[in-house]
Amino acid sequence: MTRVLVLQGPNLNLLGTREPEIYGTETLDEIHAGIAARAAELGLDVDFFQSNHEGALIDRLHVRDFDVAVVNAAGLTHTSVSLRDALTGISLPFWEVHLSDPWKRDDFRRVNYLHDVATGSVAGLGSRGYHVALEEIAARFGGGA
Ligand code: DQA
Repeated sequence: MTRVLVLQGPNLNLLGTREPEIYGTETLDEIHAGIAARAAELGLDVDFFQSNHEGALIDRLHVRDFDVAVVNAAGLTHTSVSLRDALTGISLPFWEVHLSDPWKRDDFRRVNYLHDVATGSVAGLGSRGYHVALEEIAARFGGGA
């Protein structure tokens, strides 16, 4: 079974109350419940990790106990060479997901350290973006046995 790590970056633990006009009103736990349900339908094994700390996210990637990652690096998308290096360093495919569409927001969000090394990117679809990434992963890598 394909093992998927869903990696969630800084401030995503605040979802539900954080700028709901941009990010919606679902909490991270609710989003994860939806992802887990879709992953089960697709025959994917899914694990979740959220941290507000760059190093903790990097350490989690280094565990390498997954086949493919779905990464919402949040603000680190626009700043972190180190997270990019971790993702390229482990040599595993990953999908970049954003709830909002950073390319349609502030200019500084157009700087993106992950986009060119991601296998795929989904932005602006809200929490449904995670499902689209899972569907792509199941199509490319297979789901259940
Ligand atoms: C985000 C977009 C980023 O620009 C922002 O810093 C976030 C969330 C998104 O999911 O839309 O924290 O990654």
